[in-house]
Amino acid sequence: MSDRVRIYEDGPRDGLQNEATLLPTETKRRFVELLVAAGLREIEATSFVAPSAIPALADADELLPLLPHPPSVRYPVLVPNVRGMARAEAAGADAIAVFTATTDAFTTKNIRMTVEESLAAFAPVLARAGELGWWRRGYVSTAFGCPYTGAVSPERAVDVALRLIELGVDEVCFGDTIGVGVPAQVEALTARAVDAGIAVDRIAYHFHDTRGTALANVVAGLAGGIRCFDAATGGTGGCPYAPGAAGNLATEDLVYLLDASGLEHGVDLEKVLVAARFVAEALGKPLATKVGQAGGWDPATGQPVGR
Ligand code: COA
Ligand code: ZN
Repeated sequence: MSDRVRIYEDGPRDGLQNEATLLPTETKRRFVELLVAAGLREIEATSFVAPSAIPALADADELLPLLPHPPSVRYPVLVPNVRGMARAEAAGADAIAVFTATTDAFTTKNIRMTVEESLAAFAPVLARAGELGWWRRGYVSTAFGCPYTGAVSPERAVDVALRLIELGVDEVCFGDTIGVGVPAQVEALTARAVDAGIAVDRIAYHFHDTRGTALANVVAGLAGGIRCFDAATGGTGGCPYAPGAAGNLATEDLVYLLDASGLEHGVDLEKVLVAARFVAEALGKPLATKVGQAGGWDPATGQPVGR
């Protein structure tokens, strides 16, 4: 099994969408530039959703063309409908993420559609992206629990994932939107997905650290053969339609764990910390992540690094 892990950076999108401070487009551009400099190669850049739903990302059309576009970097953008797809095309996107969830209660609040309606809305979007040769991801949010209806079974999460795969996504990403999952659930969900015929290299996990279980869940995902994890530099974010959703798993915390575990990923911890400090400062709050505060650690000297 490969030791190479993909870190899918969600900071500019999932991270910034729920922050009280709206950042200027130029600040977002600089943030992304720092992420690229840190070695991140998949960066969810923004959302082409209704600006009234997510005011913090209303500048998507302006931002995307301003980003550095080395061939090695992919900038998936979140798209909810054909309207968003047209905007993404006009802005020069070449990768998208569509997003549904396990419960109608959640999707109705978040995207004003039932799960079935959302899948119907994505069908033409994913078909068009397929014609254009774009990379396509599908999120299954609330995969471990819903803020409105409670517990969610792995069977339900996998059923929704299979529907997204039928619609053509390259990768499904199970999201613990409100950060309630624990490792045994990750194990159960991975096993169920693999039993249902979904290859491990088409599965990603998106953990929020709301209850401090995100890294433990990553370890459970790794043990199950999963090699793609979402994280947000600076641990920003949450979902405005998921009450109580705290920050994403911080990229710096994930990078520390992977480095110290001898798993390759291509991302430089000290440079991630530069980007983390940049975004925290821009948002006007202290960098509260574990590794953001403690720094990394150099086993050769015993000293912290990057503080
Ligand atoms: N881009 C820009 N504007 C859009 C749009 C898009 N992709 N989709 C819809 N709109 C506009 C419509 O033009 C309309 O504008 P108007 O009121 O000025 O006429 C308005 O948004 C409502 O459109 P409608 O088609 O009725 O959508 P809706 O109100 O049922 O909302 C979504 C559906 C999906 C567009 C909206 O709920 C949304 O964007 N949600 C995203 C939430 C999100 O990103 N959550 C975080 C991710 S976890
Ligand atoms: Zn999230």
